[in-house]
Amino acid sequence: MGIEIRPIVPDELERYMELCHLAFGGKPEEGEAERLTELVGLDRVHAAFDGGRMVGTEASYGLRLTVPGTAAGTATAAGTATAAGGRSDGERAGDDGVPGVPTAGLSRVSVAATHRRRGILTGLIGAHFADAVDHGEALSVLWASELPIYGRFGYGPAADILQVSYDNRKADVRPPERPVDLALAEGDEATQLLPPLRERDRLRRPGHFHRSPTWWRLRRFTDHEFQREGASQRRTVIARRDGEPVGYATYRQAPRWTDHDLPDGEIRVIEVIGDDLDVRHGLWWFLSNIDLHPNVRFWSLPVDAELPWLAADPRAMIRHLTDGLQLRVLDVVAALEARGWAGEGQLVLAVDDASHPSAGGTYRLTAEAGRARVERTDDEPELRLHPAALGALYLGSRPAAAMAVAGWLEAAPAVRDRTDRLFGWPTAAWCDESF
Ligand SMILES: CC(C)(COP(=O)(O)OP(=O)(O)OC[C@H]1O[C@@H](n2cnc3c(N)ncnc32)[C@H](O)[C@@H]1OP(=O)(O)O)[C@@H](O)C(=O)NCCC(=O)NCCS
Repeated sequence: MGIEIRPIVPDELERYMELCHLAFGGKPEEGEAERLTELVGLDRVHAAFDGGRMVGTEASYGLRLTVPGTAAGTATAAGTATAAGGRSDGERAGDDGVPGVPTAGLSRVSVAATHRRRGILTGLIGAHFADAVDHGEALSVLWASELPIYGRFGYGPAADILQVSYDNRKADVRPPERPVDLALAEGDEATQLLPPLRERDRLRRPGHFHRSPTWWRLRRFTDHEFQREGASQRRTVIARRDGEPVGYATYRQAPRWTDHDLPDGEIRVIEVIGDDLDVRHGLWWFLSNIDLHPNVRFWSLPVDAELPWLAADPRAMIRHLTDGLQLRVLDVVAALEARGWAGEGQLVLAVDDASHPSAGGTYRLTAEAGRARVERTDDEPELRLHPAALGALYLGSRPAAAMAVAGWLEAAPAVRDRTDRLFGWPTAAWCDESF
């Protein structure tokens, strides 16, 4: 019997939640179905059915992604034509004025264990691509449970993360030379102050996405027991300079004592946001010096993070590099014209796209004055690449040589160097939130 893939109806929501948790070995949390419905909308929540029985799930968030040049674009008057003849800044900002590239966030991917390896995931991804194209989204992003699943569908690792843990008695974060004023948030201070601070911050780094007010309310300002994993409720400390908010950190405390009654607690950092290095230094110093909690753990830093270099002994900051956001380009012209370019020059590239054929073909990219013009061409390509390589290169943090080694890119060494000069971006890509 054939598999049907379609958006679910409200009556199917409970089964949908059960099925996706079954794949991951857990159970739905209280209110999770309602949160998903509000954040995604049921029309973007898909399931696969085998003769009426639900056997697969996925959901697509509508996101606005920061890409190289997004911050520069926001500083310019909306609607101004670019020097290179690319899309206007108004188009880049999206119709609602939120800066960044309209992007589909693929999530909740699961297939019933009874139905695996029959092509159901392949069907769900096809439905996700079609849905993203319908919504005018040139990119799709996801966080992978296992990296090898998604390359075949054109997703490449675009933004790595650095997991860090340290005992500050050994690492010894230096006190800041120019301290900021710190105070724990009270009343509605967090809900008022955090969103604008984080929005400023996310525009500075490719890979972040905008958090809507609904996203803040349902995903960042909730503090359910299941989110705590045995630690305290979430604490928020606000940094101010001359009375103005300039940053914040959120964290939990996990108290612990040694067998001999010595304090050995842990600070589990959720987020550190600061307008400049002095602010972030002040916040890291604070988090590293909370009495009874000498251990600090943070699930994700950008790979170019300054934190280790604030310590007397950077080696004592145990770091683990792993992949974070996976990115897939669905519309090559729109995606490449929507980002900024630090380098200038031309490149003719051929994208060999079996899983989303409409994005395949040969393109000429001309980067000039920070923007690019991209058009289809019959010229002989200098560079051939799998869409996963294009996804990995897109945010400017992955060298072409790495993609050649992975078997996803073919070009002469000089062309690879030119590709890196064109695609490269000075700020390492990083996504501060999984979904
Ligand atoms: C991963 C999962 C979604 C795959 O679903 P599926 O319906 O079995 O996948 P398909 O049959 O469409 O497989 C498509 C291709 O991907 C490959 N593939 C599937 N799962 C894979 C995995 N875990 N690792 C590597 N390759 C995988 C298949 O072998 C197949 O390759 P082929 O085209 O060369 O034959 C499913 O096994 C699952 O639900 N796992 C648990 C939950 C999970 O990890 N979800 C992903 C969340 S990010």
